[in-house]
Amino acid sequence: MKFFIDTANLDQIKEAIDLGILDGVTTNPSLMAKEGITGDKNIIAHYKKICKIVEGDVSAEVIATDYKGMISEGERLADLADNIVVKIPMIKEGIKAISYFSEKGINTNCTLVFSAGQAILAAKAGATYLSPFVGRVDDISWDGIKLIEEIASIFSIQGYMTEILAASIRTPLHIVQAAKAGADIVTCPLSSILGLLYHPLTDIGLAKFLEDHHKANKG
Ligand code: E4P
Repeated sequence: MKFFIDTANLDQIKEAIDLGILDGVTTNPSLMAKEGITGDKNIIAHYKKICKIVEGDVSAEVIATDYKGMISEGERLADLADNIVVKIPMIKEGIKAISYFSEKGINTNCTLVFSAGQAILAAKAGATYLSPFVGRVDDISWDGIKLIEEIASIFSIQGYMTEILAASIRTPLHIVQAAKAGADIVTCPLSSILGLLYHPLTDIGLAKFLEDHHKANKG
């Protein structure tokens, strides 16, 4: 399973790169706004900065919701760097835009996916990535991980090439569950990635190893 980081924060992206485990980045309009990146020029400049430091794919979301608008915005984004993936919402016009980009060989990430039916349509349209939102499904007391399992099973039966990018990951446990459910990729905040590291027995064990070493090597 590949690891993407879900942020527009350059320091966090660099920290994940330093860990040596980062395969890509996803952003969305809320994450850009959170970093104070506003206005067309600044947003474009920020995507360029992210694409320069990241080797893997970087999802950049269109703001337009009409077909023509999504096409012109998506083409402009795709021209920014080779690793840009055009992120498109799961709406009727979005499916048309994904079909268009798929024919043109431009990578897409279909976002805001909450059902198996939506997943089938996006895969059929030729989306490169599909983003089911695990945490937001959990937020309304449904089961986000079950959705990943269901989509993974359908994609395997049907042989769809679209990669399942489990999104809206909120905890380290979500990452483990997404791996078991068959996600191809998880995109998550840095805190969830770092949360995978922690186990009290590791800390206790390391302290004991070092204590024993220092006792035996005194003087
Ligand atoms: C997906 O690509 C989105 O950027 C993101 O994962 C949404 O996460 P949230 O539900 O925590 O906002």
